[in-house]
Amino acid sequence: MRSAVCPGSFDPVTNGHIDIIGRAAALFDHVTVGVLVNQTKSSLFTVDERIVMLEEVCAVYPNVTVQSFTGLLVDFCRDHKISAIVKGLRAVTDFDYELQMAQMNNRLTGIETLFVSTNPVYGYLSSSLVKEIAGHGGDVTGLVPDSVLKSLKERLA
Ligand code: PNS
Repeated sequence: MRSAVCPGSFDPVTNGHIDIIGRAAALFDHVTVGVLVNQTKSSLFTVDERIVMLEEVCAVYPNVTVQSFTGLLVDFCRDHKISAIVKGLRAVTDFDYELQMAQMNNRLTGIETLFVSTNPVYGYLSSSLVKEIAGHGGDVTGLVPDSVLKSLKERLA
């Protein structure tokens, strides 16, 4: 069975993330959405809240599950017999850091990283911008799933 991970912070999940997860689900037998538990980074939503939101929006993909992880991504992949990392690339600005991580992860365990080109519709989209805009009362409809939009409004009210 071919398994992949779509890793990230997902604080919160955006429609850009969902596009990448869905396309990974079409390529692999099983996809794990790996939510990083990062104690040093302040977040709007707890890891558990992010998992609930992800599980709801990923329910349409029967071969996708959601799980948190701590520590190195390559260790999580080894422990769960995951042979590939799938990442979305939005623009050249993503490329340097993503390439560096892909090469380092490959050096650590030989795991491969596959880059999926982000749908141009979501090329400018990030969780950070969504939080900033929503935090100032801006409209992020269409950039995040409706359920996430509701959670954002409640959290930022
Ligand atoms: O959504 P993000 O915050 O851009 O995701 C970054 C993430 C989680 C993919 C990356 O930080 C990661 O893989 N962290 C796990 C720790 C790790 O393995 N670090 C070494 C990378 S070479």
